[in-house]
Order: sequence, then C-alpha cells, then structure tokens
Amino acid sequence: MRHLLLIAGLTLATASAAFAQTPNADPFPPGDGHDKVAVACTQCHAPTPIVTMRMGEAGWRRQVEIMILRGAQIGPDDIDRTATYLATVFGPGVPLPGPVKEVHLAAGSGAELVQTHCSLCHSLERVVIRHRPGQQWAAIVHRMMQFGAPVDGTEADQIVAYLEEHYAAQ
Ligand code: HEC
Ligand code: HEC
Repeated sequence: MRHLLLIAGLTLATASAAFAQTPNADPFPPGDGHDKVAVACTQCHAPTPIVTMRMGEAGWRRQVEIMILRGAQIGPDDIDRTATYLATVFGPGVPLPGPVKEVHLAAGSGAELVQTHCSLCHSLERVVIRHRPGQQWAAIVHRMMQFGAPVDGTEADQIVAYLEEHYAAQ
C-alpha cells in the first residue's frame, strides 16, 4: 500500500511539473462544464483523445456515458452539461489542432458533398485513406450521422454512392 501511494505521489509530482512548465496551456476552452471535464476527464488519459475528437451533442453524450461505465466521475445530473460543453468547444467544424493534410478527392458527382461535410470532424484523409468493401460505406456514413454529421437522407445517399463508386475495395 505504501508503495502504491509512493508511485501515485511520484506520478502526481511529474504531472504537476509538466503543468508548471506550461502554466497557460489549458487544453480545454472556457465554458460552462469546463471544470468538470478538466478534472473528471483527465483521470485515466491525457486530454489528447478529447481535444482531437469532434462530435455533435448526441455523439459526445454517448462518449461520456461510455466513459462513466469505465469509471469517470460524472454524476447523472452533470451528463447533459458535460455533453453540451464538449459539443460546443469540440463540435463539428471546430478546427482540429495541428496541420491537416490536404486531400484531393476523385472527381465525380458527390465529391463536393464529401469535401464539405466529411471534413468537419476529422481530416478527409481519414475518410479515404483506404478503400473499403462497397457495402461498408453505408454503415460508416450512418455512424457518422449518429456522431452528428449534418447530412440529410438524400445527401447521405449521394455520399454513399460516391464513396462506393470511387473508394470501394476491389
Ligand atoms: C476511468 C477511466 C477514464 C476516464 C475517467 C475517462 N476515460 Fe476516456 N477513455 C478511457 C479508456 C479506457 C479509453 C480507451 C477506449 C475505450 O476503452 O473506450 C478512453 C478513450 C476515450 C476517447 C477516445 C475514443 C475513441 O474512439 O478513440 C475519448 C474521446 C474519451 N475517452 C473521452 C473522455 C471524456 C470526455 C471523459 C470525461 C467524461 C473521459 N474520457 C474520461 C477511460 C477513461
Ligand atoms: C460529427 C462528426 C463527424 C463527421 C461530420 C464525420 N465523421 Fe467520420 N468520424 C467521426 C468520429 C468521431 C470518428 C472516429 C470514431 C469511429 O470511427 O467510430 C470518425 C471516423 C471515420 C472513419 C474511420 C472509421 C473506421 O472504422 O476506420 C471514416 C471512414 C469516416 N469517419 C468517414 C466519414 C464520412 C464519409 C463522413 C461524411 C459523411 C464523415 N466521416 C463525417 C466523426 C465524424
């Protein structure tokens, strides 16, 4: 037990030393819910998976619920506020940290929809980095809509058709 406490103490000391070197580097933007996230969401991992992710409110709520199952200290009354905060500061269209590689999509009907709608939460590179069996695209696009991709049914059909035509694995 003493041993464990010692390790915990050392880890804390190292973590505060790292923070001391960059006192203003709070990775979480200000807002209602900031303090909860800054504490409860950094107990198991660094802020990185959070600040590099973009989702709408429903997507973030689901992620928060998964984290609560893992052990995150967010009470039932704080779920809404936390999801709203995350969707505000890390929602679709909020620029991603670091350089984002430019991708030239294959020309074709639907390319523009992919260009504008599928680059709101991650790079386009992530979308087309590999070809996938054609039937997978519909499921992927559907999942993206659950994360908060702002596309209606018609647009989703056009996007799926484009991806099936140009980015299907043979
Ligand atoms: C009790 C430990 C724990 C806490 C606290 C925690 N997480 Fe996680 N988180 C994990 C684990 C473990 C993973 C790895 C993926 C998985 O198992 O779901 C993860 C992964 C993630 C990912 C990446 C998911 C992906 O698909 O790449 C995000 C985003 C995330 N956490 C957000 C949060 C947020 C927001 C909070 C605060 C509400 C939080 N985490 C608090 C354990 C935790
Ligand atoms: C609202 C945010 C959001 C938008 C908009 C969005 N995505 Fe995603 N996308 C995510 C998240 C979050 C992940 C990582 C989690 C996952 O893969 O389940 C992801 C991952 C991916 C992946 C990798 C999945 C894998 O299994 O390797 C592909 C491909 C993808 N998105 C395609 C698209 C396409 C196509 C569009 C446009 C219709 C799109 N995304 C728009 C949130 C979004």
